[in-house]
Amino acid sequence: MIPAISTQHDLGHANTLGLPCVAERFTAPENLSELTQALETAYARGWPLTLLGGGSNLILPGRLPGLVVQPAMAGWWLEDGEGDSVRVHAEAGMNWHRLVMALAARGLWGIENLALIPGHCGAAPIQNIGAYGVELADVLEAVEVLHLADGRVTWLDRDACEFGYRDSVFKGALSGRVVIMRLVLRLSRHARPRLGYGDLSNRVGACASPLEVAEAVCAVRREKLPDPCDLGNAGSFFKNPRVAAEQAERLLAQYPGMPHFPQPDGRVKLAAGWLIDQCGLKGWRDGHFGVHERQALVLVHFGGGSADELLDVAARVAARVKGRFGVVLEREPRLPG
Ligand code: EPU
Repeated sequence: MIPAISTQHDLGHANTLGLPCVAERFTAPENLSELTQALETAYARGWPLTLLGGGSNLILPGRLPGLVVQPAMAGWWLEDGEGDSVRVHAEAGMNWHRLVMALAARGLWGIENLALIPGHCGAAPIQNIGAYGVELADVLEAVEVLHLADGRVTWLDRDACEFGYRDSVFKGALSGRVVIMRLVLRLSRHARPRLGYGDLSNRVGACASPLEVAEAVCAVRREKLPDPCDLGNAGSFFKNPRVAAEQAERLLAQYPGMPHFPQPDGRVKLAAGWLIDQCGLKGWRDGHFGVHERQALVLVHFGGGSADELLDVAARVAARVKGRFGVVLEREPRLPG
């Protein structure tokens, strides 16, 4: 079946930064056949293609030429199985937070710490979403993808996804080459609370259910992070930088209170939010954008701004951090194309 393709489609509400954007053409296929038709039509007519998920990690330009495709297959189901673990299938268009809460409510453990992360399931593996000591890679078993070059649908296991901190093969060798169709996660029926991060263990008891943990995570996030419905943002705007051990030592001699996390590869991860905060930028505003007043890692859009202005503000924040600490900040949200 040929899916409906709308023209001059407003994407202003389809990105959590709330940047104004008009797609020349837009379609939201609800199954593989519609997706394939949309891709074939784009290919036949020479339309450039942009894939859109929940728009929560994306910096949109004012206008997107060609065809924007937002996969809308949004089912999820449990695979019957015996024993402790349960397989969960989740289609790309499913809202991630709703999946987390539905599974936590069923008493399944594994992704409760990832509650309230905005976006669709299909985007989750791209940046290997992570929070409160858990990453998607910890529970992901496989990803079903459609290859744009020849329409083949294949499965990638966890190793093939090449997960790293906020990184995966979907940002590397497979960038722009596949459409993520479905995730398979492996969750556990038995209690596996991970309460080591921050003050989570003060908020829930050791016998908490996964739903109670998920609710505690939601409460922490609501205290620190702006709700995109109230204030445009894309969550963390920068990755936490990893620096050489010698550089971390030099910085620690100067700033003994600096949060630092030694990594398995010998490097040391620093907190970008702390670095920006130390530059006195928390709550700083210039025009339509600024640094969030409660979490300096989040850039916020007060409305009326553009992608170029945002990138300029971000470049100035990064330059201040580089100037003071000699640390380079890398952007987290992606530009389409
Ligand atoms: N900090 C400050 N000032 C700030 C922000 C942070 O001093 O304005 C300090 C904190 O006190 C703490 C350290 O920096 O000592 C780390 O802060 P926090 O625990 O808030 O976490 P984060 O490193 O800033 C990361 C993720 C978040 C995730 C939290 C919790 C990245 C880029 N961000 O933030 O992810 O929710 O840990 O696990 O890794 C997201 O990706 O959008 C996101 C929100």
